[in-house]
Amino acid sequence: MKLKNDLFLRAARGEAVERPPVWLMRQAGRILPQYRALRGKLSGFKELVETPHLAAEVTIQPIDELGVDAAIIFSDILVIPEAMGLPYQMVEAKGPHFPRTIGSANDINNLNAGESAAEELQYVFDAVKITKQELDGRVPLIGFCGAPWTILCYMVEGGGSKTFSKARKFLYQEPELAHQLLSQITETSIAYLKKKIAAGVDLVQIFDSWAGILPTKHYQEFALPYIAKMCEAIQEVPKTVFSKGAWTSLEAISATDCNVVGIDWNTDPSIVRAKLGDEKVVQGNLDPCLLYAGSQEIKEHTLSMIEGFGGKHIVNLGHGVYPDTPLDNVKVFVDTVKGFAY
Ligand code: CP3
Repeated sequence: MKLKNDLFLRAARGEAVERPPVWLMRQAGRILPQYRALRGKLSGFKELVETPHLAAEVTIQPIDELGVDAAIIFSDILVIPEAMGLPYQMVEAKGPHFPRTIGSANDINNLNAGESAAEELQYVFDAVKITKQELDGRVPLIGFCGAPWTILCYMVEGGGSKTFSKARKFLYQEPELAHQLLSQITETSIAYLKKKIAAGVDLVQIFDSWAGILPTKHYQEFALPYIAKMCEAIQEVPKTVFSKGAWTSLEAISATDCNVVGIDWNTDPSIVRAKLGDEKVVQGNLDPCLLYAGSQEIKEHTLSMIEGFGGKHIVNLGHGVYPDTPLDNVKVFVDTVKGFAY
């Protein structure tokens, strides 16, 4: 089906655009009253993720409410560990919890991986198909997965953490097992992304949320090579790599076969352009907390960011939007971008 608004995809491919496209990481979620209403009627987060027509409904809510230029399929990066044999729970007001974790060679050998693990996630592929039908070509649909290092963090740690010191300790004490686990996650994620693409997603984004807690040397040994492998394996659609906090490795990330480099809010546009040049497409990077400021300040910062990147830019925040962000401020942000012309 032909897209009515393909601005996001044209920008991702590095083509000339009349204005930068805009969407928000975590746009489908608790900032929207429609999401909170639907979520309140369900047993929990997983019911939403695992029921394809409901996942499709919340994927489309921000398109209707905010008028953003791309949809992102409602799901979670933690479906991959679950498909590999480590189920997760989403504990209300606390976050993810894994009753079983990975610590030994035996644990890793017992995991499912690759094609047969990816086949466990039919509910995601069904959600993609329904979403594509219901979007009816209005905007492109983004598919995503976690980067292997970020997924390892949850599989070893068993939940969220400020330091992920258990996962980092694993890299020092069991480097070979870490590589074995990262390889299995990579194979599974590639098979999973290919199935999402076959179901209809137009671009894929790899979220490396915990890249920034690694020393540069470890990032380049345990994180980046697996992302590079994923980018090489996926040739069907454009790819975005968002390695939050890995600013010391920006050039190396840009040198993978990715089309778009995600930028967090700690890295100034001028530094990004000095490192990557003017031709690489970047995505980001307003501080999500800016959306708690007044509308004038939101407008000014949004415009100066757009000017700072100077083109080849997809507007987003530097990380996911926080759930209690006032919706009107999100709209000021989106409308400011939509009112801009290069
Ligand atoms: O709109 C979108 O961006 C699509 C949906 C999406 C979710 N999770 C839905 C979600 C995406 C892209 C993710 C990715 C994800 N999940 C990441 C990578 C991006 C990032 O934020 O760094 C990570 C690390 C996770 C793991 C995860 N899922 C955590 C730590 C939590 C708990 C924290 C929280 O926000 O509550 C989740 C739960 C989650 N995933 C929610 C949503 C909307 C909140 C669940 C709810 O409705 O209560």
